[in-house]
Amino acid sequence: MNDVPEGTGKEFVAGSRIVALFQVDGRFHAMDGICAHAGGPVAKGQLTGCVVTCPWHGWQYDVTTGKHCLNDRIRQEHFPVTVEGENVFVDVPE
Ligand code: FES
Repeated sequence: MNDVPEGTGKEFVAGSRIVALFQVDGRFHAMDGICAHAGGPVAKGQLTGCVVTCPWHGWQYDVTTGKHCLNDRIRQEHFPVTVEGENVFVDVPE
């Protein structure tokens, strides 16, 4: 849990997937780390509250749902997260 402090995000590799993990208000949220626009690194964007801004062209996503903030039809795949003690587990389909 210390790897992703409150109010930040970090990119992880899980199998063949890139996962963006964020901590907001003490809860962890995980979604596809590859931006739906042009493949930018979502986890490296600015996190403001529960909204992350992709660093490449500024698309914004709600990290609690993976939904694009302006277009409901665009949604990053969102993954279930479980916390056990100090460990955070993300259920990522292959
Ligand atoms: S790649 Fe993310 S906004 Fe363009």
